Amino acid sequence: MKFTFYGHSCFELEINGIKLLFDPFISHNQLASHIDVNSLKPNYILLSHGHGDHIADLFTIEKNSGAQVICIADIAGWLNGKGITNVHGMNFGGGFNFDFGRVKMVYALHSSSMPDGAYGGNPAGYVIYADGKKIYFAGDTALTYDMKLLADENLDWAILPIGDNYTMGADDAIKAAGFINCKNVIGVHYDTFPVIVIDKAEVSAKFEKAGLNLQLPAIGETMEL
Ligand code: NI
Ligand code: MN
Repeated sequence: MKFTFYGHSCFELEINGIKLLFDPFISHNQLASHIDVNSLKPNYILLSHGHGDHIADLFTIEKNSGAQVICIADIAGWLNGKGITNVHGMNFGGGFNFDFGRVKMVYALHSSSMPDGAYGGNPAGYVIYADGKKIYFAGDTALTYDMKLLADENLDWAILPIGDNYTMGADDAIKAAGFINCKNVIGVHYDTFPVIVIDKAEVSAKFEKAGLNLQLPAIGETMEL
């Protein structure tokens, strides 16, 4: 399975040639100016919640690719109203077997509304079971005790926000890695805006001290999971 980082909380998982793009926010991210949004042709687009910094490029990429959008049922309804009909709505605790593997929607502690002010349901995270691996994407979230429900999943990788201010910061993300019992962490949702700029060396040292493998791939970088 290949992971490619596109900045902020946007990344792509490639699973046996099938591409899953998460939380598309590229063209408004100055740090991702070297990424061409029109080059992205995912098979699926997964949304954690309705905030602009997670869906800004959804319409462009969906139009270019015809990807199926996976999201919470409330956002699915909003997308239908905007003319996007290839949508798979889910809700907490529910899983579904897609052609690439299984997706389960899990709880996130945050807020959610659509860019036009419409109701966006609740924010979500996902567990992806595919290609013999288990990957957790927390979405935008605070540290929450519900993460302990994932402790016995034997997760291979966790993609966690670490930027603080809008989500948990590094110290709580380290606690989260303990709650979910996962040593391999990819940090996201940092550096994009002044209030979430982190000291990468300091954060990396904290994770290392906690016995965790923190990866902070460059924007555009691909790594094997
Ligand atoms: Ni958000
Ligand atoms: Mn966000």
